[in-house]
Amino acid sequence: MGATTLGVIAGCSGQLPGSGDGGGREVTPRSTVTAEPDTSVNLTAASGTIRPAPETSTTNWMYEGQFPGPELRVQEGDVLSVELTNDLQAKTTIHWHGIPVANPMDGVPNVTQDPIDSGETFTYTFRAEPAGTYFYHSHVGLQLDRGLFGPLIVEERSPHVEYDREYVVIVDDYLPEEPELPSDGGMGGDGGMGGGGGMMGDVRPPYEGLLINGRLPADPPTFEVAEGERIRFRFVNAGSATVFGVRIAGHEMTVTHADGRPVEPIDVDSFVFGAGERYDAVIEATNPGTWAVQANALDGNEPPARAVVEYESASGGSPQSPSSASNRLQYGDLQAISSLDGVSGEPDRTFDLTLSRGRGQSYTWTIDGQAYPDADPLQIRPDEHVRIRMTNRSPVVHPMHLHGHFFQVGDAIKDTVIVPGHRGQVTIDFHADNPGRWLFHCHNLYHLDAGMARVVRYVE
Ligand code: C2O
Ligand code: CU
Repeated sequence: MGATTLGVIAGCSGQLPGSGDGGGREVTPRSTVTAEPDTSVNLTAASGTIRPAPETSTTNWMYEGQFPGPELRVQEGDVLSVELTNDLQAKTTIHWHGIPVANPMDGVPNVTQDPIDSGETFTYTFRAEPAGTYFYHSHVGLQLDRGLFGPLIVEERSPHVEYDREYVVIVDDYLPEEPELPSDGGMGGDGGMGGGGGMMGDVRPPYEGLLINGRLPADPPTFEVAEGERIRFRFVNAGSATVFGVRIAGHEMTVTHADGRPVEPIDVDSFVFGAGERYDAVIEATNPGTWAVQANALDGNEPPARAVVEYESASGGSPQSPSSASNRLQYGDLQAISSLDGVSGEPDRTFDLTLSRGRGQSYTWTIDGQAYPDADPLQIRPDEHVRIRMTNRSPVVHPMHLHGHFFQVGDAIKDTVIVPGHRGQVTIDFHADNPGRWLFHCHNLYHLDAGMARVVRYVE
């Protein structure tokens, strides 16, 4: 698996892209649940108008006319059925980010299903487990950056932390126009923010601000709290190309979950997360006043996204900003409460993968020199302990996401992990316990759309 593969890799004409014949007989996926759903929901995807601040309006794509889409909330182990109606002038799908659903329900176009035509419906049914903070989003092209996402909360039957109330906090980058890939190799130098610019750097979409729960800082959402309460915040990074740093003024955060999975509680004053990652954190409301929740872009210069924590007793006034972060969460701090099965000892199979910018004229991002869909599947066998070692040969971070499985990274269990730029290395381990074809990709949407993805394929 050299990092130096050059030239065009033969496509797989006549077959599903990226899932082409890497040899071996494919293993049949787990079948879809047939039990009566505990919860049934209809979601219609359609274009509409959003007003992220009083003076600002734009056309967005939305579920049920809401931005972010409606919160789906179920109990751990419940069967959830979602009928998606496509009222867009484009094909679409929904992916249930982080939940290890049966493969046919995973919502990846041309890999797990045909994309849903305009005017058509498709019903997704799956068992919602394990408990955690998730989100759902379109998996077609750049539709996520047009607004097609919403929170999906799977409540635990017995939480390992106590809290009195909770709020979902979705951070996002705000693109009021139609998203598109850079037309050339990004060498034009017009606003490359990724550090370095030029061939190896990156071009950031022209974001016009940063959002919390669909609101610009001019009109922030308010989270009411009462003195003495413990408040659980479920933070989701639904941005398409932004790494966020998050702080809450006047309060320490106790991080309790990473990507939905419980961790030993750890006290911090800030954390950083990439596209697709989630953290849950609890604060103790012992410091009355009006305080800012702030999420700033590490890779952009837009003003920070904002929300307000307001005590019932507070007399209004403008919220106090957080002081600079000094005790930031590190991956090494995360200690999963229960370990992942099937990943102890030496792996049965190891992939060494290089993440880098494509070398051609066009804007591409590659894994081992190949740009999806013209890319070989990563073939694994059922029940294997699989290790993926990633080396990032570009200067920009890549939040890498594996569908259908959680993985072990250090002592944490996650489904999305940042691989730092400038030769950053991250190793993940997972148990091959969910047969099918699963996408493994960068959750920077522009990197994904420009090729930074592979299909993980189960063969006999
Ligand atoms: Cu949220 Cu394929 O990802
Ligand atoms: Cu990337």
